[in-house]
Amino acid sequence: MKIEQTVQTTPQAALEITDLGVAYESTWVLDHIDLTVKQGEFIGIIGPNGAGKSTLLKTLAGLIRPSRGEIRFPAARGRRHPVGYVPQRFDLDPDLPLRARDLVGLGLDGHRWGFAWPNAQRGRKIEQALAQVDLTGFADHPAGKLSGGQLQRVLIAQALVSDPELLLLDEPLSSLDLASAQTVVDVVHRVSQNLGVTVLLVTHDMNPLLPVMDRLIYVVNGQAVIGTVDQVVQKDVLDKLYGYDVEVLRLHGRILVVGDETASGDAAGFEHR
Ligand SMILES: Nc1ncnc2c1ncn2[C@@H]1O[C@H](COP(=O)(O)OP(=O)(O)O)[C@@H](O)[C@H]1O
Ligand SMILES: [Mg+2]
Repeated sequence: MKIEQTVQTTPQAALEITDLGVAYESTWVLDHIDLTVKQGEFIGIIGPNGAGKSTLLKTLAGLIRPSRGEIRFPAARGRRHPVGYVPQRFDLDPDLPLRARDLVGLGLDGHRWGFAWPNAQRGRKIEQALAQVDLTGFADHPAGKLSGGQLQRVLIAQALVSDPELLLLDEPLSSLDLASAQTVVDVVHRVSQNLGVTVLLVTHDMNPLLPVMDRLIYVVNGQAVIGTVDQVVQKDVLDKLYGYDVEVLRLHGRILVVGDETASGDAAGFEHR
């Protein structure tokens, strides 16, 4: 007799953060963060200026050492590069004689195994990464002549080329016009679906992500809550997080959080205890 077995596959955690705390000198900018992200999830990281969003991403990228707590990438076990990271600001001198392929190649060279790639294979990987962000044929394009949206997609290709489990993007939509921002969101969404890559994308405006994100992490004053939009973007949840009254307005399918005083950018880190 043949017994058919069905294997139940529940997605593994891509990221587990336990009691994470990050301090710059004596100021704690992230504190008591606990959250789990499933493999393949598209997560928006939302919050006012100075909330700690970039600090969170830099810590996940291994650029800042946590002052307390643990970060694990269970699904990336055995992978040499759990994360691909695109920082918030990337200033490119338009006169530098760099091509798109050179920028993407940095994603290989920045790692120990960079030079182990034979040239042909290296070129193929770079071209594949450019194709994933809809920039087939752009490999030899001068980097300084790329539009804002194209440059952002080249940087995403650079983060993808090392085949990471998690893609960490810090404000990839800022300073883009609506159409280019939409293209970036669509490309990242497709990459996450096609490659099963887990995405954490920081934005101060959640609206462009509403159609594609599975859940969001809302960061305010170094505290974070994770959940679906309906679970998190609620007056009672956000009042607690902000520590004062905010209003959540839903207008024509858009969401506005009103009363977000720190959005002006003067938020300082809070004192720990
Ligand atoms: N290198 C640093 N040294 C000291 N304070 C910093 C540093 N980087 C950021 N901060 C402070 O940490 C807080 C969080 O900053 P950041 O993570 O950049 O917030 P966000 O990305 O949400 O705007 C802010 O108060 C900011 O001024
Ligand atoms: Mg930031």
